Amino acid sequence: TDRRYVIDEMISAKSIAARIEDLCKEIQKEFKGTDKLVVVGLLRGSFVFIADLVRELDLPIEVDFLEASSYGDGMESSREVRILKDLRGAIEGRDVLVVEDIVDTGHTLHHVTALLKSREPGRLKSIALLDKPSRREVDLKADWTGFEIPDEFVVGYGIDFAQRNRNLPFIGKVRFV
Ligand code: PRP
Ligand code: MN
Ligand code: MG
Repeated sequence: TDRRYVIDEMISAKSIAARIEDLCKEIQKEFKGTDKLVVVGLLRGSFVFIADLVRELDLPIEVDFLEASSYGDGMESSREVRILKDLRGAIEGRDVLVVEDIVDTGHTLHHVTALLKSREPGRLKSIALLDKPSRREVDLKADWTGFEIPDEFVVGYGIDFAQRNRNLPFIGKVRFV
């Protein structure tokens, strides 16, 4: 990844914020009356999305994190999802919302969902800011999706390219020059 690249804006910070407002209305409808929803962010990519999402969410929640990695520094999924850090709390009987930045091949969300399901939560739902359906290798879809995108290598708003560019406030696509 020493190749030179530029980043073209693909989804602005403004459109992300507007989409999050709509998504939160739907999530609130789904979880209305829930005692205390556990919102689980998948590190590292989802740290920006979950921060914006929970601040827009008008529900009693707890926040927890799980670190999963399958790409490392490469551009290709290893298809082997490693759990690097588990949740702090128990989720048995609790309603859970898994927050992902992007669903690509689907291996990460599939693996994490199966793991959490085995702990017998109440309702288990998932949300992904981005979805690249054309790259799917596992048949699944998040319960809520922010934006469907074409098969471009994207960065920013938490998403990295070899650990860089996570701090961009928008979603951009990588163009090699
Ligand atoms: C990225 C991204 C998703 C996952 C999606 O994580 O944040 O978690 O890949 O890809 P998939 O659907 O093909 O599994 P990554 O492994 O790069 O770790 P990171 O979140 O720490 O960057
Ligand atoms: Mn990730
Ligand atoms: Mg990554």
